[in-house]
Amino acid sequence: MINMRRWIPVLLLLTMLLAALSLVMAHDEDPPEGEPEATWEDIAFDEVPTYYGQVKEVLDDHCMSCHAPGQIGHEGAPLDEIEIVVNGAEDIAYYAQTGYMPPWMPSAENVPLKNPRVLNAEDIAILTAWAEGGTPLGEPSAETAAVVEPTAVPQVRADMVLQQSEPYTPDTTNSDDYRCFLYDPRFEETTYLTGYIFEPDRAEIVHHAIVYRIDQRARAEAFARDGQDGKPGWSCYNTTGLGGRYEEMVGTWAPGTIPVFYPAGTGYPIDAGDVFVVQIHYNTAAGAFPDQTQVSLQFAEPGKRVLPLLTAELQAPVEIPCPEGVGGERCTREFAVNYAAERYGEQFRQRPDYLLSACNKTLARDYADLDASSASSSCDIVAPANIVAAGIFGHMHELGKSLRIELNPDTPDAQLLLDIPEWDFHWQDRYQFAEPITIQAGDVVRLTCVWDNTESETPRYIVWGEGTGDEMCFATVMMVGF
Ligand code: HEC
Repeated sequence: MINMRRWIPVLLLLTMLLAALSLVMAHDEDPPEGEPEATWEDIAFDEVPTYYGQVKEVLDDHCMSCHAPGQIGHEGAPLDEIEIVVNGAEDIAYYAQTGYMPPWMPSAENVPLKNPRVLNAEDIAILTAWAEGGTPLGEPSAETAAVVEPTAVPQVRADMVLQQSEPYTPDTTNSDDYRCFLYDPRFEETTYLTGYIFEPDRAEIVHHAIVYRIDQRARAEAFARDGQDGKPGWSCYNTTGLGGRYEEMVGTWAPGTIPVFYPAGTGYPIDAGDVFVVQIHYNTAAGAFPDQTQVSLQFAEPGKRVLPLLTAELQAPVEIPCPEGVGGERCTREFAVNYAAERYGEQFRQRPDYLLSACNKTLARDYADLDASSASSSCDIVAPANIVAAGIFGHMHELGKSLRIELNPDTPDAQLLLDIPEWDFHWQDRYQFAEPITIQAGDVVRLTCVWDNTESETPRYIVWGEGTGDEMCFATVMMVGF
């Protein structure tokens, strides 16, 4: 199923666009081809590397974007403190070898992505040899002694900050509360959103969030809903509840999303009269605290030529059976459908069947023999027009095991647009392609999700639902138009 808004076919202009894009989108040089790559174990040093000689540079380049003071990893490991690094040298080497740090989910088979957070063999060898060789500090030079300022991390320019004037305390009738908050940017002309950063206030309850652009035609309706129940915003399980035609996802946040900048020269057009709605998913397992999460938005300078971005949404059915040995009513699909409809609204009753038919699937043929420990589902989406894709985002919840988005699967031209072999709920990035990917009309994009329902503490049959204990198989493709 594909859902494209404000889509303008780019058939004839495609070549022109690609030429323009290659000018505006900076990308790294290709790695040299040919020789098989050496692994870190193949690399030996004549002398033990030192902290000031080599180690600090590896940390500065690959770790400080998250581990400098004020960044998300500083609390877990303040790597700006030498003693911490020295004492943790073995752990650091081990995390580097296993790929646990820096966190980067896509596999090596993925099409090249921008800013991959991966260490090369030499970096890993340096950290390992240093840990094994007694962690010598070496002599600081003027250059290497410099403290890395967190400003080395690209900052989103906060041209507009979206934050409620009073905190919202999530509703605990459900363990998952979805709340929509309204913001009026009061633009008088089309303005292009070029980046954003989410700053969750109470990270332990903010599970994910979406920034929607709401078309001016739904503006009055949005204002009518706001604050109706005496609290900021309104309850909104099914997207914003303002009608699919009027809303477009222009930003997403989940744990692990760091500041987002759209490709240079592109942005999401926000027209005069449009408003923003920020939907926040609160999970109250840790409690219900007053929250005032904020989102900072960056816009293109007025008058600058910007190629508009558009979002396509991809979805696949969610049909996850109970693990072996578990039975009873909770393991029936009927129970699951009622469960979703009761909690998230009647639209969720039709959704499972709708997704099956939209994806040409049947329960009997495609979902009868699933193994709960690796229950999979997929949907083939046929591109309705030529598309230039600049980025991709995949989303599941906590039972997710792997996620894949393939272009023209099972053909010689197959490409892996997103390949996450080990799903981690805590690291869901919006990835951008190193070079834009062209998708021709008629091409197939296949979204596949795999779940492990033996991980669930209270196993039941699961269909598409909004709660953290429910599941989704969802992706967005960021497209560049004219
Ligand atoms: C994209 C952000 C990011 C980058 C880049 C990153 N880290 Fe982390 N790191 C985190 C976060 C967040 C945590 C805390 C969460 C956790 O423990 O899982 C963490 C935790 C750690 C911990 C403590 C782990 C534990 O479980 O005690 C160490 C050590 C660490 N990182 C080392 C590194 C090193 C070394 C690098 C660079 C080679 C690096 N990190 C790069 C985000 C990052």
